[in-house]
Amino acid sequence: MPKNKNIEKLYKWFLSKNGRKESTSVSLQSGIYLFNKLEELKPKFILDMGSGFSTLVIRTWQQENFNSLDPLCYTTDLDPAWLPVTKAEVEELGLNADNFYLQSDFGKLKDTEAKFDFMFVDLAGRKERMEKKDLIVSYLKPNGVMALDDWHRSNYRCVMGPYLESQGFTVIERWETLDRFSRFMVEAVK
Ligand SMILES: C[S@@+](CC[C@H](N)C(=O)[O-])C[C@H]1O[C@@H](n2cnc3c(N)ncnc32)[C@H](O)[C@@H]1O
Repeated sequence: MPKNKNIEKLYKWFLSKNGRKESTSVSLQSGIYLFNKLEELKPKFILDMGSGFSTLVIRTWQQENFNSLDPLCYTTDLDPAWLPVTKAEVEELGLNADNFYLQSDFGKLKDTEAKFDFMFVDLAGRKERMEKKDLIVSYLKPNGVMALDDWHRSNYRCVMGPYLESQGFTVIERWETLDRFSRFMVEAVK
């Protein structure tokens, strides 16, 4: 089955679980983008900030590449209720369920600075993302790639965009992720 079809199947499964909603999860288009980006970059260390469908997609890719690349995925969330829900979904799918952290606990880990080759930034509140922007950027390796959701939100974009540029990033819109809520993702690269 083509990979996009597998992601579509995974998305349908995800939406049938635990009161999951399209509006509080990344879109199918974004899931497909994430999977293809991982295929392209083949990152060793991945940080998935904001658990949900992204977690299932990233850990599916991880599972498919255990033997060759042995990738490590860390998932964080601000919400103590939703983190175990995502973890249980990952377990039900038979995917790797290591390294799930509340963001506050992840912040206490050592050796997370400049560790990650690929990051997906989608923590629950955009306010939190803006407040934690220095911390978020500090997790990325110098030549790492960061993907950010919700770029349609002008109050978020207008703070994060100039900040990322001031840190030497180029921000690239990924229009293929545009969904029916007008949401889309960007990639920040150096
Ligand atoms: C910002 S979203 C992150 C989405 C995730 N990256 C994904 O790919 O689906 C995650 C947060 O949305 C909230 N959330 C998720 N599902 C929800 C639901 N059905 N109702 C209300 N809030 C929800 C929780 O606070 C959760 O921590």
